[in-house]
Amino acid sequence: VELKDLNTLRVASVARYYVEVTDNESLRAALAWADANQYRTLILGGGSNLVFDGDFDGLVIRICIRARYWEDVSDGEATLVLGAGENWHDAVLYAAGSGYRGIENLALIPGTAGAAPVQNIGAYGVELCDTLVSVTALDRHTGELVKLAGQECQFAYRNSLFKEQPGQYVITDIRLRLSRHRPLQLGYKDLQEYLGDFAPSDIDVMDVVEAVMAVRRRKLPDPMTLPNVGSFFKNPVVTNAEFDRLRALFPEVVGYPQPEGVKLAAAWLIDQSGWKGFRNSHVGVHNRQALVLINHSGGTGADILSLAKEIRESVKARYGVKLEMEPGVVSQAVRE
Ligand code: EPU
Repeated sequence: VELKDLNTLRVASVARYYVEVTDNESLRAALAWADANQYRTLILGGGSNLVFDGDFDGLVIRICIRARYWEDVSDGEATLVLGAGENWHDAVLYAAGSGYRGIENLALIPGTAGAAPVQNIGAYGVELCDTLVSVTALDRHTGELVKLAGQECQFAYRNSLFKEQPGQYVITDIRLRLSRHRPLQLGYKDLQEYLGDFAPSDIDVMDVVEAVMAVRRRKLPDPMTLPNVGSFFKNPVVTNAEFDRLRALFPEVVGYPQPEGVKLAAAWLIDQSGWKGFRNSHVGVHNRQALVLINHSGGTGADILSLAKEIRESVKARYGVKLEMEPGVVSQAVRE
C-alpha cells in the first residue's frame, strides 16, 4: 500500500501490509496478526509528525477509532473524551464552540487526538498536558487496556512516555478536563498583537481560536498546498552559561528563560544561518518560518533528512548548538 497520501510531507513509501482499525477489538486483532507473523508494526494517526525514510516492511495500522462525548459535567467543568482517531482541530472547534476553555491555543495543529499526547503538542503558551487527565491505551506487553493518568505519562516539552518507549502503548482514547471559566492564555506575543484592540473582558474562547488560526495561517504553511510536518526541530535548551557565551558573540540571539536554562528559538538559529527560503530541486525551508521544511516536488524522505542534516551541521558550526529533530523517522528497508 502506498502511504504518500497518508503523511503530510507526502513522501512516497510502500507498506507491505496496511489496515484501518475502528475499535479496540480490531486493533487487538491487527496487533495479534502482526505478532503471530513477526511483522513490525507502525501505528499511524494523521501522519503529520513523521518522515518515512524508505518503505515499511511490516504492518501499518491506521487508528480510526471515533468517539466524542462529555463526562463528569459539573460546576462549569467537563471532561471531553476523544477517540484516538478524532481529528484534533475539529475537537478544538467543538470544545470551544461548546464554550469550554483549555485547548483553544492548540487550534489548527494537524493530526489526531491519539497522536497529540505522544509529542505533548503545544503552541502559544499551552501544552496538551495542561488539560489532559488520562489516556486509555492498549498495553502491548499484556494485551490489556490500561488507563494512564496524566502524571504517569512523563510529559515534557514535545516529549512523553509514549515517545520515550515507543511500541509499548497504543493510545485508544484521551480525556481532557476543560472549564468554562479558566483564564484564557493570551500572553504569547503574536496573540497579543492580533487581539490587541479587544479589552481582555471582551475576549471569549472562540476569539482565541480565531486569533490562533489567523496567526498560524500567516506563518505556517498549509500541508495541503506545501507538504510539511510543522516544526522540524525542537527549540534547544542550553545552560545559562552557554546562553551568555552565545549572547556575547551574537547579541541578537533569541532565548526564553526556563527553569533548567534558556530555550533558544531554533527558527532564529536556522534563519540566521541563511536557510530561510532555501530550496533545491525537491525540498526546502519555508520562507516565513525557518523551522519548517517543505517537500516542494516529489522529494523523498531521504531528501528531507539530508537537508535536515545540512541544516544541523551548519547551525552546529556557527553556534555550537545541536538541533534535535522533532518528527519521528520511520526507517526500515524492505528485506528481500
Ligand atoms: N524566528 C526567526 N526566523 C523565523 C521564525 C522565527 O528568527 O523564520 C524567531 C523569532 O524571533 C520568533 C522566534 O524565532 O520570535 C520564535 O518563533 P515562533 O514564535 O514562530 O515560534 P517557534 O519557537 O519557532 C514554536 C513551536 C510551534 C508553535 C509555536 C507557537 C516548537 C518546536 N515549535 O515555534 O510548534 O506553533 O512555537 O507556540 O516548539 C510544531 O511543533 O510543529 C509547531 C508548529
